[in-house]
Amino acid sequence: MDFAAKIRLIKDFPRPGINFRDITTLLQDREAFPKAVDAMAGLCRGIEVDLIACPESRGFILGAPLAYAMGKGLVLFRKPGKLPGKTLQYCYQLEYGSDALEVHQDAILPGQKVLLVDDVLATGGTMAAAVELVKQSGGQVAGILFLMELLGLGGRDKLGNHPVLTLIKCD
Ligand code: PRP
Ligand code: MG
Repeated sequence: MDFAAKIRLIKDFPRPGINFRDITTLLQDREAFPKAVDAMAGLCRGIEVDLIACPESRGFILGAPLAYAMGKGLVLFRKPGKLPGKTLQYCYQLEYGSDALEVHQDAILPGQKVLLVDDVLATGGTMAAAVELVKQSGGQVAGILFLMELLGLGGRDKLGNHPVLTLIKCD
């Protein structure tokens, strides 16, 4: 299936001059969404995984069905103040300002192999923060998986030597 064709391009969002790649058109397609999840799981064949982890919020949309499809547990990396237990936190820079992700201290056990999942790789800032949280937890990054990679923003360069797998590549 041509997954890239299921992504809608919206010009001048969120600011003039930006071409926004909108995944909602893929998600609402009852054939494309499950096929995309299965294809993403297929990209990970051969990678040993104990747990899947994903950043709030669009990461949850893909992390949850992947965990179900691959028969793995799901760990949520949430925005500050959302998780009820004791957390680890990592702050990261955005184009304007900063943000942070948190994970429960006991969610990832030392040595566990974690597959990180998000919808889009752009600058890599979000996923670099997720990688740091896996490391703070004592886990190992088994791989990093995206529905879509925006080429030309250097996102991959922020993700070290971990295997980075992307289903769709866009200019
Ligand atoms: C978007 C997207 C990725 C991130 C990619 O999330 O879902 O998580 O940006 O950009 P980056 O590689 O430059 O970090 P956003 O922060 O917009 O929040 P959302 O998932 O809650 O919509
Ligand atoms: Mg996101």
